Amino acid sequence: MSSAQTPQSHLYLEVAEKVLRLAVRSRLMPGDRIPSIREISAEMKVSVSTVVRAFAHLEQTGAIEARPQSGYYLKPAHQESQSQIRCTQPSPAPILLKPNASDAEVYASVVQAIGRPGFVPLGAAVLHQDYLPIKGLSRAVMKVIRQQHPKAMGYDSLPGYPALRTAIAARGGQLGTAIDPDGIVTTVGAMEAIHLALLVLTRPGDVVAIESPTYHGIVHLLRDLGLRAIELPTDPKTGADIGTLEGLMKKKRIACCILTPNFNNPMGSLMPDENKEKIAALAGRHEIPVIEDDIYGDLQHGIRRPTVLKSFDRKNWVLLCSSFSKAIAPGYRVGWMVPGPRFQSQVEQSKFTLSIATPTLPQMAIAEYLHSGAYDRWLRKVRVQLMSRVNWMAQAVRASFPADTRLSVPQGGFVLWIELPPKIRATELHRQALSNRISIVPGTLFSPSRRYAHFIRLSAALPHSHELERAIATLGRLAHELL
Ligand SMILES: Cc1ncc(COP(=O)(O)O)c(C=O)c1O
Repeated sequence: MSSAQTPQSHLYLEVAEKVLRLAVRSRLMPGDRIPSIREISAEMKVSVSTVVRAFAHLEQTGAIEARPQSGYYLKPAHQESQSQIRCTQPSPAPILLKPNASDAEVYASVVQAIGRPGFVPLGAAVLHQDYLPIKGLSRAVMKVIRQQHPKAMGYDSLPGYPALRTAIAARGGQLGTAIDPDGIVTTVGAMEAIHLALLVLTRPGDVVAIESPTYHGIVHLLRDLGLRAIELPTDPKTGADIGTLEGLMKKKRIACCILTPNFNNPMGSLMPDENKEKIAALAGRHEIPVIEDDIYGDLQHGIRRPTVLKSFDRKNWVLLCSSFSKAIAPGYRVGWMVPGPRFQSQVEQSKFTLSIATPTLPQMAIAEYLHSGAYDRWLRKVRVQLMSRVNWMAQAVRASFPADTRLSVPQGGFVLWIELPPKIRATELHRQALSNRISIVPGTLFSPSRRYAHFIRLSAALPHSHELERAIATLGRLAHELL
């Protein structure tokens, strides 16, 4: 349901989101006092009772806390539950990945559930259309078509559409690193960027270190390239374990590693800057490249956009990859990478072989959208909405799932990683959820050794609705029944 049509019963949720947005705009930090119920009621022109409901919701979902005689105070989004899932302990042996026919069925079900009437798509890590900048992007597309359509129909040339590269480079300050527009190669999504990096850095049979759990697309890509994987212990708060990575680099056991330091999918971990700095230094010392996937970096819940690992890369061993799939339009398939001077010409050659060029029209449209300044305005709004939805879903899961369920609530992005009691097989929960018209992703897909058989990943990027409430309650009931 679009927020423009918010029924009265959901008005309090809109007010709750606005309160969080106001807090972010006013640069309030966790621990700071937020305006009072009366002040919010006057400012937003809504009744005191609606604001009371909104505050109760924010309190319940762990976004604010009441202090007697004093008022309401901001809490960090992840405070309560962040540490509930423990650091993972995967096996240190390299794994040769094998195809698994059932994975393809899971993907098909997840993709088909998006936008399918009657289905609640909790599986796909994409924003619901209410959270996509449809109007702003449509304006950008129309402008491009009016002014430059013949050019938009032709092949683009390497390293990618210049105005898009300039717009991406201008964002370097927020990422904590200076980016030269000529050092950017545009790609078909972040997936092509990671693919190109692996083509340049590895040969079949090589070993690549990855987080455990990691994005399932990376697991499948390694498999298709005939690579072996070593899973790194990964902490839900701070990400990949540096000690293990250092050991692997020292002994030259890996050809490269792939990390998502900012809000890894599915755990949502955020690597502290000091760890990023150490990893960049290790990569330089041992001359082992790091492929950095920063696809969720713009979607932090806090005030400060996290820096990229690349910003600590003094010796050019980090290949930064990202895309606009998570915050603008997944279907435009526009991604980019900064391979660094050491690898850029090889990346460009492989890019030409793989896809000749990145589609021109979507690059032009996104360039236009970025240059208009609308992206940052959009991000300010959507980040708060996502934080609120993540908090809501975490709370709803806690309320309906079995008591010993654990959660890793992300500090950015919008996916929840859920550890069910070990008796529950997530593939069975997935099957039963589908017959109730709910899509989820079972945990086994996020690990080459098919660990996490009792974990699931849910996307929280859906607006509030009774169907959504019912879907979480149904998942909870199914989980209880499977115990
Ligand atoms: C961590 C991560 N990397 C890469 C991708 C793929 O990105 P794109 O759609 O830009 O190819 C995803 C998509 O879910 C992801 O979660």
